Amino acid sequence: MTPALAIRDLHVHFPGRKRLAVRAVDGVSFEIAAGETLGLVGESGCGKSSLSNAVVGLVAATSGSIEIQGQQVVGANRAALRHMRANVQMVFQDPATSLNPRMTIGAAIAEPLLVRGLATGAALRLRVEALLEEVGLRPEHAGRMPHQFSGGQRQRVVIARALALRPALLVCDEPVSALDVSVRAQILNLLVDLQSRLKMATLFVSHDLSVVRHVCDQVAVMYLGRLVERAPAAELFATPRHPYTRALLASVPDPDPIVQRAKSRVPLSGEIPNPANPPPGCRFHTRCPIAADLCRTAEPAWRRVGGGDVACHFAT
Ligand SMILES: Nc1ncnc2c1ncn2[C@@H]1O[C@H](COP(=O)(O)OP(=O)(O)OP(=O)(O)O)[C@@H](O)[C@H]1O
Ligand code: SF4
Ligand SMILES: [Mg+2]
Repeated sequence: MTPALAIRDLHVHFPGRKRLAVRAVDGVSFEIAAGETLGLVGESGCGKSSLSNAVVGLVAATSGSIEIQGQQVVGANRAALRHMRANVQMVFQDPATSLNPRMTIGAAIAEPLLVRGLATGAALRLRVEALLEEVGLRPEHAGRMPHQFSGGQRQRVVIARALALRPALLVCDEPVSALDVSVRAQILNLLVDLQSRLKMATLFVSHDLSVVRHVCDQVAVMYLGRLVERAPAAELFATPRHPYTRALLASVPDPDPIVQRAKSRVPLSGEIPNPANPPPGCRFHTRCPIAADLCRTAEPAWRRVGGGDVACHFAT
């Protein structure tokens, strides 16, 4: 079956100082199967948003390939892109800036359907009402303005709008990070529920491992523009194989004793290197608690370990 998203050797570089490009995404490959949720995690600045923005076409890929349902996005012409955009929708971190403050939420949700001429009049109104119900809001809310809602409710509106075109791929970039802790679980539960009902593939970006844990089938860990590990979520949390994954997990307190036991005792320390001038060999060697001479010169290959893949010379 064609994957919902296939990324191969993707590079997203930005102009940096002293003519050194900022290599925000620097050779990333992965796939998301139809209906599957992949969590993309890593510290601030590792390139998560650059990658997800490239997938939805908000930034240009420098090189590499991005296929959405088998269709190439990189280098595609405008007409082809417009067609593909209906298949991929994005939910951003901050619902306050994602919604036009002068537009009713009903109009905001109707907009993508209207623009593509998919519904008008009574049919459009019914569709908007159904979408509101789908995200746990009431149909009579359609006439309200964004400011009349809480942050959590606004994020539900943003999700309803993203679902309007029934995309094959939903990209969520830190969808609960700007919300009160008390409503985060509700929005995550909504995403899990929609995921299982609508069977759409999701790229779920978060710096917070505890968030992806309950939402994702697969988890990919990113460090300084590269993937360092990818595995089924349960396996990654129970048996993290890359020292960076272990360090990330160590910084999340976890009530699950199995996860807690697998944690490294060494918390993540040290500065994140400059993505315009990444360290040679393994990019993590400047912060890795078990780095050896080999790590400073030889880049670790991406290889299969257990049910996942990892890039570390010593992962077993
Ligand atoms: N438009 C841009 N121009 C120049 N550099 C950029 C641009 N966008 C991102 N960067 C740089 O690219 C790197 C990756 O940034 P990105 O926003 O993708 O990281 P992130 O993982 O999403 O971080 P966060 O968790 O803080 O959202 C950073 O060094 C950032 O400063
Ligand atoms: S390759 Fe070496 S430096 Fe890199 S994560 Fe593995 S042990 Fe650490
Ligand atoms: Mg980001």
